[in-house]
Amino acid sequence: MAKIVIEKSVPLKGAVRISGAKNSALPLMAASLLSGERSVLHNVPRLRDVDTMKEIMEEIGAKIKREGDSFLIDTGNIHSIEAPYELVRKMRASILLLGPLLARCGRARISLPGGCAIGERPINLHLNALSSMGAEISLENGYINARAKRLKGAEIFFDIPTVTGTENTMMAACLAEGKTIIKNAAKEPEIADLADMLREMGADIEGDGTDKITIYGVKELRGAEHRIIPDRIEAGTFMIASVMTRGEVEIRECIPEHLGALIEKLEKVGAEIRVKKDSIFVKGPDVIKSVDIKTMPFPGFPTDLQAQFMAMMCIADGCSVIKETIFENRFMHVGELRRMGADIEVNGSQAIVKGKKHLLAAPVMATDLRASACLVLAGLVAEGGRTEVHRIYHLDRGYEMMENKFASLGAKIWRES
Ligand code: EPZ
Repeated sequence: MAKIVIEKSVPLKGAVRISGAKNSALPLMAASLLSGERSVLHNVPRLRDVDTMKEIMEEIGAKIKREGDSFLIDTGNIHSIEAPYELVRKMRASILLLGPLLARCGRARISLPGGCAIGERPINLHLNALSSMGAEISLENGYINARAKRLKGAEIFFDIPTVTGTENTMMAACLAEGKTIIKNAAKEPEIADLADMLREMGADIEGDGTDKITIYGVKELRGAEHRIIPDRIEAGTFMIASVMTRGEVEIRECIPEHLGALIEKLEKVGAEIRVKKDSIFVKGPDVIKSVDIKTMPFPGFPTDLQAQFMAMMCIADGCSVIKETIFENRFMHVGELRRMGADIEVNGSQAIVKGKKHLLAAPVMATDLRASACLVLAGLVAEGGRTEVHRIYHLDRGYEMMENKFASLGAKIWRES
């Protein structure tokens, strides 16, 4: 099994280029199924999750060819409407095929995505939205069976601003008959990126980025060419790494407006931050001040940066409170950080982190994607030897060549099989 080995790092220095966003690439790939014409995606990151989505789409008949950082996607001959269990269980975001297949083919059979380490991850809001658009949905043998001659526009209110629920509904509504209004919609930047591509395909959408999105269904959509936005979570991960190592790092090809909540917190931590149009310079302070965070839907502090921020608070000068409000079990990294000497007390959805002078190098185990990033960050500052992060297939799901990027900034980090 591969592992990543890290020694205590010198202050990171230099510039790092951010890859295309995983959580944009996945819905954009699914959206290409809404048209029988060819689409082209640029800035496609090299990630396991993207590979899995490619595999599932090829299973159902799409032809996808990588040319450098681009995907040429031919969806002219979709001959199956089934996303099989053995692939869906590898990546629950396969649920994003439900809306497009239903809208394009009138049917879809998707294995129910199970839960995962961070939570039960129900999809009731997705299914309720599609049912209110006229889809007949049944669950049998662990599969969702959905069918609809033609979906009809509806007014949908999400109890929770679900990101992929909003994306699934948007995609389905583009080809539905009439108008769909989504209230309490998610406002993450990936939603706006998807809406941009759907408009390039000929969809009639407005309000993306706000909590009310209106879609006027059209008869059919054309292929499109679209560049994927940069990954704000990868960018945030490197910003936190610069602070933790007291480094001076320029994060290139990012969108600072997507990182407002983190920037505000890092300034409170004592970092010096200079924002340009498409880059952010982060200089770490000598003393890392402890700061409380509470994860919230965008534009609040992103849950996908909670674990990384906790790693930084482990070496802060005081006590910080970290509240996780999005997922019910997203503290799996706490046990591993404790193995490195961290002082963290968990009460339900709240973790109290008592900052220490330093962490201690140790072998640790990744439990989920962002927890693995948190452990790499902890390894960069841990004293007394080498930190080994095991089960790094979690990391490869969402970070493109993370160790190479850190090594280019001066970190002593490498992969061992
Ligand atoms: C997306 O997951 C992201 N994944 C997650 O990133 C991210 O953490 C999450 O949004 C929150 O920002 C992708 O975009 C592929 P939700 P998603 O539906 O859409 C509950 C990463 O590390 N809920 O917004 O699955 C749910 O249980 C991943 O890159 C329902 O109850 O998240 C959760 O508590 C992890 N019923 C809350 O809503 C539903 O039908 C938010 O979930 C749907 C969701």
